[in-house]
Amino acid sequence: MRTLLLLYLCVYVAWAQDNLEFDDYETEVSNAGNETGGSVDVRGHRPVMKGRDRYDPHRYAPPPISGGSRYRGRPTPAPVGGPQRQEKEQQPDAGGCTHASEEMGVLCPTGCELKTTLVKQERNVKTTIKELKPQVDDLTRSSNNIYNYVNGISNSLRERQRIITANSRVVSQYTDQVEDQHSYIKETVDTVFPSNIRVLQGVLDKIRLKILKLEKAIQTQREQCKEPCKTKCPIPVVSGKECEDIFRRGGKESQMYLIQPDPFYPPYKVFCDQSTQNGGWLLIQNRLDGSVDFGRRWDDYRRGFGNIAFDVGKGHCETPGEYWLGNDRISHLTKMGPTEVLIEMQDWTGAKVHAQYNQFTIQSESSNYVMAVDGYSGNAGNCFLEGSLQLFGENRTMTIHNGMMFSTYDRDNDNWIPGDPSKQCSREDGGGWWYNRCHSANPNGRYYIGGPYTPNMAKHGTDDGVVWMNWKGSWYSLKSISMKIRPYFASR
Ligand SMILES: *[C@@H]1O[C@H](CO)[C@@H](O)[C@H](O)[C@H]1NC(C)=O
Ligand SMILES: *[C@@H]1O[C@H](CO)[C@@H](O)[C@H](O)[C@H]1NC(C)=O
Repeated sequence: MRTLLLLYLCVYVAWAQDNLEFDDYETEVSNAGNETGGSVDVRGHRPVMKGRDRYDPHRYAPPPISGGSRYRGRPTPAPVGGPQRQEKEQQPDAGGCTHASEEMGVLCPTGCELKTTLVKQERNVKTTIKELKPQVDDLTRSSNNIYNYVNGISNSLRERQRIITANSRVVSQYTDQVEDQHSYIKETVDTVFPSNIRVLQGVLDKIRLKILKLEKAIQTQREQCKEPCKTKCPIPVVSGKECEDIFRRGGKESQMYLIQPDPFYPPYKVFCDQSTQNGGWLLIQNRLDGSVDFGRRWDDYRRGFGNIAFDVGKGHCETPGEYWLGNDRISHLTKMGPTEVLIEMQDWTGAKVHAQYNQFTIQSESSNYVMAVDGYSGNAGNCFLEGSLQLFGENRTMTIHNGMMFSTYDRDNDNWIPGDPSKQCSREDGGGWWYNRCHSANPNGRYYIGGPYTPNMAKHGTDDGVVWMNWKGSWYSLKSISMKIRPYFASR
């Protein structure tokens, strides 16, 4: 049994070394005990290697904002009163494809795809012309040969005629025949061949024209793709500082709204969930179908990216897209006062759980967006404060997210040997996040369709999926997860 184990260990090490191009640090050899499938039980953490490095869990992090609140409980709505006026105005402003801010990028598939198709077609036509050209050249050359041949015949004919004058009577019939043939060939060469060439030249010209047209179309497309495309998504008239404010002002439908938390900065678009737990929730993160890449740089996470909302035919943007609101905005919103966060998730069978923290504050960029939470409730498991319950001691501490700074693959602020470029959680775990060493929750990880995945499927052999360890473990990637914030206020 022991030799078998040893053999397996060797095979595993060999495999790990084969994968060195992905994994440029030493792979841990810890899963030899369990050979069931590819699941390596618990990952999340990066265990300390004795005598080689140490883990220091102590970092100063400001606590979340608590006490006092901007809002009192919601007033009980007046019994009658006129219906909430909530007319929608067709605004020229962009929606849908464009995002809250221009920097959030544009999803403008139709135009650009058309362009790609045109370019592809142009390439095909160009090849055809290239093939046609030598054929036309050949034809020109062979018609030249025939020309020369006919000229030769003409000469010999003239020669013959001189002889014929001597004994014309004898060969008159023969000469007639030759003359006939000569005129026939001459006629052919003079009319049919040139006309064929002319036809081909016409075809060539037409193709050339088509290419010109294509080039023009591509140019037009290029011009149009420079501007974000406009959609008809109307923006509700009701606005506010955030979604709770909008709710109190009568915006009670879940959809995209324009908010302006700070009068000194321009308003921007967000999706408000106005039905869950009495509404007022501002969506800051959303994953639901893997349509948006979350493996992004610091700047993208700072500004935000993705699609705020879509109109699926109801005339307003009531379907949220996949997006990250942006760390600057999240920080600003959570620092306005006590804020709670609701994290809802769903597995691939449709089961749903949630985690809620009634204090949630994100510091500003100068503090690398340190996260602080408190006051857990819910049934998904307290990943942010307790780390992964499948791990123990130091290993578990490594997976606590509370008090961590934000890290992206190009900005390493995690707690895994700071300063060592080969020890970066964000590089291995797929997204930007408040990584420690490294995670128990990875909502911005890679999107795996179906749920279970294996280290072999992961780019670095780590649990880089959309993971909430305390619910589904390291090797299950959730179908959807979202994070929503709301100003905290005492019970209604
Ligand atoms: C191996 O892991 C599976 C689940 O992944 C577990 O059910 C099983 O008990 C484990 N076996 C051993 C020997 O640890
Ligand atoms: C931490 O994890 C490593 C490998 O996963 C394991 O060898 C070690 O015993 C763990 N430590 C604790 C305290 O569980």
